[in-house]
Amino acid sequence: MATHALGRSVFGDPKNTGNLLTMDEANALLNEWVPNERLRLHMQQVSAVMKAWAIKKENADATTAHKWELAGLLHDADWEKYPDDHCRVIIEELERRNIDPEVIHCIASHGPNYFGVEPENRMDKMIYAIDELSGFVHAAALIRPTRYEGLEVKSVLKRLKTPSFAAQVNREEISDAVARAGVPLEELIQFIIDNQSEVGV
Ligand SMILES: [Fe+2]
Repeated sequence: MATHALGRSVFGDPKNTGNLLTMDEANALLNEWVPNERLRLHMQQVSAVMKAWAIKKENADATTAHKWELAGLLHDADWEKYPDDHCRVIIEELERRNIDPEVIHCIASHGPNYFGVEPENRMDKMIYAIDELSGFVHAAALIRPTRYEGLEVKSVLKRLKTPSFAAQVNREEISDAVARAGVPLEELIQFIIDNQSEVGV
């Protein structure tokens, strides 16, 4: 059984469709729940890439892009304070606040091997793929003097084939996530390089 299995696959209430936190509200929650700056940066990066992907690759309208952005920003919000109940706590908080079920399902499906929730729609599949790769690309940028500037896809791919680099990143999960997303690995890495570099290093 998955280590943090949520034990259910339905989240939120359909009558709350369209009910979203503003970015100010979401950032306030993040600042309160996540004192660790690096962890906050990770969520801001995933959020930026999710929003950019929705707009540039999925032709999303503003409301849909906002959903992608929110899910990215809050997906690990409970990780620092509730590591043993990671994902369950933020999901229940968003349910309590009557947030759109798609956003909650997306957060619940960002780690199918841990939470036991299968990614279903495009937003679900992309958060799974972007989450793992975003941190890996960031690690690859941090070891370079010029960080993201000049960072090439092929050097990220080379690091992926080096098990000792960012060893905690599970390569099999990356392959699984990218396969489910149906996006070439090279394309996704390039997109992440291009869209998360400005969020902060
Ligand atoms: Fe994450």
